[in-house]
Amino acid sequence: MEGHFQAIRAPEREGQGAPGEVGELVCWGGEQKTAREVEPAEPAIACDRRGVWHVRTFKEARAILRSSAVRQAGFKAEVLARLPQLMRLPLLFSDGQEHQQQRRQTARFFAPRVVSQRYRSLMEEVSERLIEDLQRKRRVDLSRLTLEMAVRIAAEVVGLTDSLLPGMARRLEAFFRYPIQPLGLDPRTWLNFVGLQWAVLRFYWLDVRPAIRVRRRQPRNDVISHLLAQGYGPREILTECVTYGAAGMITTREFIGVAAWHLLEQPALRQRFLQAPEEERLALLEEILRLEPVVGHLYRRAGQELALVGASGEQVRIPAGTLLDLHIYAINADEGIVGAQPRRLCLGRTLREERVPPSVMGFGDGTHRCPGAPIALQESDIFLRRLLALPGLRLERPPRLRWNELICGYEIRDFIVALEGGSEEEATS
Ligand code: HEM
Repeated sequence: MEGHFQAIRAPEREGQGAPGEVGELVCWGGEQKTAREVEPAEPAIACDRRGVWHVRTFKEARAILRSSAVRQAGFKAEVLARLPQLMRLPLLFSDGQEHQQQRRQTARFFAPRVVSQRYRSLMEEVSERLIEDLQRKRRVDLSRLTLEMAVRIAAEVVGLTDSLLPGMARRLEAFFRYPIQPLGLDPRTWLNFVGLQWAVLRFYWLDVRPAIRVRRRQPRNDVISHLLAQGYGPREILTECVTYGAAGMITTREFIGVAAWHLLEQPALRQRFLQAPEEERLALLEEILRLEPVVGHLYRRAGQELALVGASGEQVRIPAGTLLDLHIYAINADEGIVGAQPRRLCLGRTLREERVPPSVMGFGDGTHRCPGAPIALQESDIFLRRLLALPGLRLERPPRLRWNELICGYEIRDFIVALEGGSEEEATS
């Protein structure tokens, strides 16, 4: 699917219901860019011919994600579960008590205060370096800078900081290009398998193993040191690093890209972002994530029969063993929660349900909700403020959109930005 630009329009004001009840929306003409199709809001819950249940409304999705009767079934978790279980599962794929314990023990790496104190200066430093690079070259592919940014910050949290060779971001990128699929009669599945194994080995030998060795001698305050203290072996640590690569690095890269796209396209919004206080900037970023969820589907498997209440109050019974597909684009546009104009970027949304974050389910919900949300928002804010403050920075042409099957989300590529006076060849170097 190719990207496209929306015409820049002045913000429109939408009076929403009784004053004080929903408030006044300010819509910036920024319509959704990344959805593969416009998801229907109805039916809220329905079963398809293959027996998969599809969920498109917020309350039902939240009930599922908060239920202890479901298991993780996204990010190819069930392909991994089919392999002989010789090791502990990574955080993203584990469930129940083991999962709760891991979440408790790793919470200290992600608390907002910790994020602000421990990683802020690194985020500023990396942003500075990338922006200087852009200033030197005058014309770059922004999707390369967002990859560097996202990988460097998540690497610090995880502890992947002792690589034998530079280029971990590209190694991870190459690795995630291979689809995770079972072997079959088709020779392409074998070629894919060999390519994937090679990419895993390179990542292990050049990035993961050196990090483990350093931390065995001297533990640090990061996820790998924590896993070593828990007695995790190299293979388990490698698997955890790969899931952090998908959950923390790929997602943040794409999010910074889509936010930059919206903000570059609309000069008035860009100005507003640059002048707004931090709280408002973060709310705007979350509104962008609501509109453009990087993880477009969450999957769960029902461990036992689930009883849900449907949109018109009817009981819906979902049998044990069923696969549940939660459509995040539709859920994040649930008018019962987000109000009018759900597929446009609007400031000042008052959500119609308590304790719902502005990104709605952009970071998930329930036991697996993203622990990295404060990191992702803070690093996006720091990078984007520096980028968008550059005088003369403009979008040269619309980026290209692709679909990533692993995270069920978009990828933004060939995102060429230039400073006035930039030349043609430099973006690819
Ligand atoms: C904008 C960026 C990000 C988005 C959109 C995002 C989105 C998500 C979502 C939707 C989930 C829930 C998956 C599920 O319920 O099945 C999740 C889980 C997770 N995320 Fe993020 N994430 C982002 C950034 C990060 C960062 C920066 C880190 C770490 C450095 C991170 C680490 C994780 C981990 C470890 C999990 C698994 C948690 C668990 O299973 O308990 N994420 N993320």
